Amino acid sequence: MKVLVTGGLGFIGSHVVVELQDRGHEVIIIDDLSNSSIRVVDQIESITGKTPVFEQLDLRDKNAVFSFFKNHPDIHNVIHFAASKAVGESVQHPLDYYENNITSLVYLLQNLKERDAKFIFSSSCTVYGQADELPVSESAPVKPAESPYGNTKQIGEEIIADLCKVTPGFNAIALRYFNPIGSHSSAKIGELPLGTPQNLVPFITQTAIGLREQLSIFGNDYDTIDGTAVRDYIHVVDLAQAHVVALERLATGKNEHNMEVFNIGTGKGSSVMEVVKTFEEVSGQPLNYKIVDRRAGDITAAYAQTDRANHVLGWKAKLSLKEALASAWKWEQYVRSDAFKG
Ligand code: WQD
Repeated sequence: MKVLVTGGLGFIGSHVVVELQDRGHEVIIIDDLSNSSIRVVDQIESITGKTPVFEQLDLRDKNAVFSFFKNHPDIHNVIHFAASKAVGESVQHPLDYYENNITSLVYLLQNLKERDAKFIFSSSCTVYGQADELPVSESAPVKPAESPYGNTKQIGEEIIADLCKVTPGFNAIALRYFNPIGSHSSAKIGELPLGTPQNLVPFITQTAIGLREQLSIFGNDYDTIDGTAVRDYIHVVDLAQAHVVALERLATGKNEHNMEVFNIGTGKGSSVMEVVKTFEEVSGQPLNYKIVDRRAGDITAAYAQTDRANHVLGWKAKLSLKEALASAWKWEQYVRSDAFKG
């Protein structure tokens, strides 16, 4: 299949491009390079031996989006990542988030609705907030969003579901990710946060390599196994493979014109302290950390019920927390080496 990947040079997008190419699909990437590097195109090529087609495009530019699709009448399969994703920043700049994540989505869909398109949307476990029951299933209520970022994922799902209802031939799946971490086994692509990392694993690897002095663990008074908060950390390669099988499901026309939603996690919760200890074990690096107050807006625990993805998509996470952390560490070492800095 020919597949358009928006935001295909980003952390998750680049891993999906590799998995698509490995499965024999032809990939076109669009990306505005606002939070990614053009070098990723070469990195992808050095993994798969295939060069993806790349066009720099800002999806907020309505005319540019329309002419892109006019020039590509053969695009019917789309995986949509291009979006802003920093929770704290979204609170400071809500309109930027609504414009970048919602306006762009609408322009994209306007071009796809008459094409019998198959569409995969990058959604988030944040739609559940602190779930009443764990593991959380897809039928759990969507809670009021804690941030404009989270709200854009909820609204995005609603927009796509509304379009599916009235557009025979347009089929969509929303994948609700838990906490993606790690990198490709080649360590040639991975997560490269701008500035100080907000997420746990990049902060850990940057501390271990000496870029940060100390990891702050946000709270050890939660009602969990050791008092630190619990999340479902999923290897980005497993996550990437879920996109490929979801798209292949849509290609078979099995989803009956309703948007389907799948949790994409491992089903296993790990505490912050477990992640720290596992990282120390796989890297051999003692980590300098201290316990500080809870971070505002954090929930106690989230992990996925994955039965629907297991049975309907035939997908299951295969890689362990150890493997994910080892790959994240390998990537951090590569990024800081002369080989990457060139
Ligand atoms: C994980 C745990 C922190 C940093 C992320 C995304 C969110 C959504 C889900 C996509 C928490 C703790 C962190 C640090 C720490 N993804 N922590 N010290 O908050 O679960 O959310 O995944 O939509 O958008 O942001 O992930 O990696 O920030 O935190 O103790 O320096 O690690 O308190 O318990 P989170 P995270």
